[in-house]
Amino acid sequence: MSTPTMSAPTMSVPDRLIVQEVAPRDGFQIEPRFIETADKVALIDALARAGFTRIEATSFVSPKAVPALRDAAEVLARITRRPGTVYVALVPNLKGAERALAAEADELNLVMSVSETHNRANMGQTCDASLDGFARIVEAARGTRASLNATVATAFGCPFEGAQAPERVLALVERYLALGIEGVTLADTTGMANPRQVHALVTRALARVPAGRLTLHFHNTRGLGLANVLAARDAGALRFDAALGGLGGCPFAPGATGNICTEDLVNMCHEMGIGTGLDLDALIGLSRGLPALIGHDVPGQVAKAGRPCQLHAPPRAA
Ligand code: COA
Ligand code: ZN
Repeated sequence: MSTPTMSAPTMSVPDRLIVQEVAPRDGFQIEPRFIETADKVALIDALARAGFTRIEATSFVSPKAVPALRDAAEVLARITRRPGTVYVALVPNLKGAERALAAEADELNLVMSVSETHNRANMGQTCDASLDGFARIVEAARGTRASLNATVATAFGCPFEGAQAPERVLALVERYLALGIEGVTLADTTGMANPRQVHALVTRALARVPAGRLTLHFHNTRGLGLANVLAARDAGALRFDAALGGLGGCPFAPGATGNICTEDLVNMCHEMGIGTGLDLDALIGLSRGLPALIGHDVPGQVAKAGRPCQLHAPPRAA
């Protein structure tokens, strides 16, 4: 008799999953070809119409470090803000936070790595310096309407240092909360996580952060992205980052490849009876438009294969 590889969801796990779309940020940041501002705006608006309640729309980082997103302020100025959608902007430092606040981002996503080596490569500073900067950002955001989320990058492994001690990851989560940052993301920056590791870390994180404020950010670098989603969900996680078409990757991490693919994740959820509130057909349509926009194929699979309900005519008898 076969035994299930994962326990059935308990009653406390809601039959829904929240997807935060990150293609406009994580996806476009690594594209060699500059995506015109008007095209970014059109995509973000179409994503909002497809039902996303959360979209990471851009990042306010150094335009020298990430020229692909040098038009961040213009993007936020030109999108049509859909009521009920939170438009998030990634920020690395106080300067980025000030720019994002001026552009009226609804939420700032403060990012640093738990790995010193990756933080230096990505953010050009030590982890302590990043944390000092976060404290200043908290002050700068006080009294504004922007909410704050902070990401632990390389939480499941660093491409330079390898495994990261869960205790260090959890200590960083506690530092974020102590600073008054309400949301936390655990990011698998280069797809090093496996489902058992994910289940264990998410279980421990949820003892500190309520499920409604915890986001998991997986990359599919080694093909484990959706398996990691199910493991995290089994541990009680509710919110996941994903990128249309499976775009994405950190420009400052060797071998980085795409995020988990939004429409593949949504298809999996809907096939399993897990609600997302998203229009899957609309997402597939948008994903099919990506190669023309960015100039190359994308890794997503459902947009190529079609949904399982889309059957084919049988071959004619000879
Ligand atoms: N937005 C715009 N410009 C910024 C900025 C920001 N958030 N932060 C710094 N700058 C500018 C500075 O004003 C300075 O400009 P100048 O050369 O014209 O004087 C220049 O960038 C260098 O500033 P410095 O403080 O010395 O930073 P740095 O060169 O050490 O770079 C970061 C540090 C964090 C700004 C840079 O590494 C970065 O933007 N990284 C983001 C990486 C990223 O997006 N990774 C993927 C997502 S996780
Ligand atoms: Zn990422």
